[in-house]
Amino acid sequence: AIVAACGGGSDSEGTDTSGEESSGETITLKVGHTLADTSHYQEGLEYFKEILAEKTDGRMDVEIFPNGSLGGERDMVEGLQIGSVDLVLTSTGPMSGFVEEITVVDLPFLFRDAEHAHTVLDGEVGQDLLAKLEGIDLKGLAWWENGFRNVTNNTRPVEKPEDLQGLKLRTMENDIHMAAFRELGADPTPMAFTELFTAMQQGVVDGNENPIPVIYSSRFYEVQDYLTMTRHFYNPSILLTSNSFFNNLEPELQTALQEAAVEAGIFEREVVQRMDEEYLNELEEQGMEVIREIDVEPFIEAVQPVYDQYSEVFGQELIDSIKNQ
Ligand code: PAF
Repeated sequence: AIVAACGGGSDSEGTDTSGEESSGETITLKVGHTLADTSHYQEGLEYFKEILAEKTDGRMDVEIFPNGSLGGERDMVEGLQIGSVDLVLTSTGPMSGFVEEITVVDLPFLFRDAEHAHTVLDGEVGQDLLAKLEGIDLKGLAWWENGFRNVTNNTRPVEKPEDLQGLKLRTMENDIHMAAFRELGADPTPMAFTELFTAMQQGVVDGNENPIPVIYSSRFYEVQDYLTMTRHFYNPSILLTSNSFFNNLEPELQTALQEAAVEAGIFEREVVQRMDEEYLNELEEQGMEVIREIDVEPFIEAVQPVYDQYSEVFGQELIDSIKNQ
């Protein structure tokens, strides 16, 4: 975090090294994300910056680093642990490498709709999952949203699981996502998001899967022909900081940061909903062939072995309690 004396000029800025942040100073939080500056992540973070400044009377400011300029999601989460970044907005994609339990939310076709996901994540289950991060010096401030993921590719329109057969699909570096696509017959290829556009452009992979706001704001329509509304994973995001950073703040600033994270998360989910609706038509206008309606039952059946495997990891009781909310 960069700390500057309130009302002081830029020459009073300096890097905070240690000790509790003292009053009368503006703390500038460095926050990274991998998406474009036209994305839902950016819009949510701009709102977060605004309300955090209001809540702290200008004592906290936010500097947003979009486009993976601080690295891919996994790199940035590691950056939190070593203190090179203060906040990261990341999907749960790379979290299997940090706290496996949290990736229960990544199971395919787990949530009926966004409302169901919000109820679970904002309730006891979601809060217990965030608490598990504390053991590795991370702090989940709030659940935000990336959205329901959909398959795109350059080979053929996908309408049934057989159409995925042999397709080289980039997935996130997430064990459950990869297992699900293996069951669906595809060839899942994990890769950081920052490498994905070029990989699709050069035919290193045939396709990818991502929510509509990502597909549109990252201009995937320039390098992908087909899009199917598979909605196979609901993909939450987490606004993360580290315990070391959070615990070093004055209590009023901790409260403001926590509240702003939750309020901006609610706002950002609305942005996702708006973009999901608006950008689907835009993608068609940009020339993508969009399959809006599919029969999801054969997809759900095909991924059943993933549930059989992971019920041992997460416990069937937890999975049932999520499904039944
Ligand atoms: O595909 C991904 O890696 C994620 O959906 C993204 C785009 C980085 C957003 O969290």
